[in-house]
Order: sequence, then C-alpha cells, then structure tokens
Amino acid sequence: MANAKMPGKFPRGPRTVPWNLTNIASSTVSPLSVAASTPETQRQGERKHKRASGPGATLADVIEHDALTATRHAYDAAASTYAQLFRDSLRDSPLDRAILGVFAEAVSAGGDGQVADLGCGPGHVTAYLDGLGLAAFGVDASPAMIELAREAYPGLRFDVGSMAASGIADGALGGVLSRWSVIHTPPRELPVILSEFHRVLAPGGHLLIGFSASEDPSHPTQVFDHAVAPAYRWWPDHLAALLRESGLAEVARTVREPQPTDRRQFKEIHLLARKA
Ligand SMILES: C[S@@+](CC[C@H](N)C(=O)[O-])C[C@H]1O[C@@H](n2cnc3c(N)ncnc32)[C@H](O)[C@@H]1O
Repeated sequence: MANAKMPGKFPRGPRTVPWNLTNIASSTVSPLSVAASTPETQRQGERKHKRASGPGATLADVIEHDALTATRHAYDAAASTYAQLFRDSLRDSPLDRAILGVFAEAVSAGGDGQVADLGCGPGHVTAYLDGLGLAAFGVDASPAMIELAREAYPGLRFDVGSMAASGIADGALGGVLSRWSVIHTPPRELPVILSEFHRVLAPGGHLLIGFSASEDPSHPTQVFDHAVAPAYRWWPDHLAALLRESGLAEVARTVREPQPTDRRQFKEIHLLARKA
C-alpha cells in the first residue's frame, strides 16, 4: 500500500477558474532536449529527434515532429495560465484522486519501481504521486511547463522530453502516467507513443492513461477545439484495443460523465493497463 506520504485533505477554496485564452501569457521558447536516465539513452533520444526532421525522415516522422513542435510552442505560451487554472484541480476531482490511488497501489504491489508522469505539465500530478509514496518524476515537451514544475516542486525531478522518444531505459519503470497528454498526438502517431510506454515499463508495470471520449463507436477519434492546441478524443474501446496491440492489457477503467457546469460535455476516461 503506497500510503507513506499520503497527502491530507485538500483545503477548500474557489473552484477552478474557467479556461480563458486571453489570460495566456507569451514566453520564450527554448530548444527541445530529451529526458534521459543515462548519457547513452539521451544520445539515442537525440538521434531519434534528428532523424525526425533531417534527411531520411519519413512523412510520418515529419508530421509527428511538426505536431510536437506546435504543441510545445502552444504550451510554452500557455504554461503559467495552465498552472494557475489546474494546479489545484485534483482537489475537486475525487474520482481522479481515486484512480490515481489505485494506480499507486498497483505500482507499489509490483515492487515500487520508478514512475514517469509523461506530459506532466506543471507537475502537480507528479507531486500528488510523490505524496502517495511513489518515486515519481515528470517529463514534458514544454520547457516553460518544466520550469514551472521545478519551481513549484524543487524536491522532484522534471525533464524536458518527448513521449515518443523519452530516452528512458528499456523496462526501467514500474509505472507510466499519461494524463491528458496524448490528446494532442495525431491519431496515426499514437501507436508509436503507446509502444514507447510499453518499452519503458518493466514486465508487470502499469500504465494509467487519461483522455476525453469521442461520441460513439462510429467516431473512433474526433478532433476538438482545445484552447491550447489541436486535440483528439478517442472512443475508449478503440484506445483500449490499441493498448492491447502494444502489449498493454486493460485492467480497469473509470468513466466520468459530463456535468452541467462543465465547459465541454465530454466523458472523461482513465484506462489502467498492465504490461504482461
Ligand atoms: C493537457 S496538458 C496535461 C498536463 C498534465 N498531465 C495534467 O494532468 O494536467 C498536456 C501536456 O502534455 C504535454 N505534451 C503533449 N504532447 C507531448 C509529447 N509528445 N511529449 C511530451 N509532452 C507532451 C504538453 O506540453 C502539456 O504540458
């Protein structure tokens, strides 16, 4: 049971302010670097990125690379607003806290391996996992997000990097969290990222992936008007099938129905999956 540092109750406070594009501040964009556990894995990640834009790159490489660059720039510009709006959001999300708790217990039961929060944003969920007793670190494509995460949680590790080429060693992790971080990935590129999640997990390791659901099975994916960058929602069974094809078997899922006060009337899904 991963409760060594279980966080106490969240203090009550004003509910999350509505997302407001006019609040988004501009910020300087730094070059992408790659999270690495060793110099060699870092070099591998960097080589993969050069291939994505250099000679020999396939069309798919270039599309993924361009989408990631656009996402990174958009989140650099939105970072401080995003942090302000969402840093305390778990306080009002008992279901999210519950599934994060289940994930933490599943990882701990498998031997307390390290956990990567991939696409960690301003790091508040990485910090929550740390509070649940996990050895968690965060990775994000946006240098501005990583800067905010490091400032807010100086005791934790945060690296700039890409989910598709994390530079993390094979089988190094007991858990991967991807919470609303694959929503900006062009659908045909998602299998690459899911393979990467599978690669970095140890056998028996767990993935928790959060995303918004599309309307019905006839829309396996649907683009939507996300305030920061183009985004996609997925029919949950379709995403679960992609996970299965990547070697990650579904263990459980939660479905949060949209509430009348929600800006977007989308179901929110968490899928918990396990590497065989
Ligand atoms: C909607 S935010 C979610 C942030 C955080 N996980 C949360 O739960 O609030 C999406 C984050 O994923 C990051 N991201 C998107 N695509 C990424 C990729 N391919 N590699 C690394 N980070 C990525 C973005 O920079 C952004 O910080």
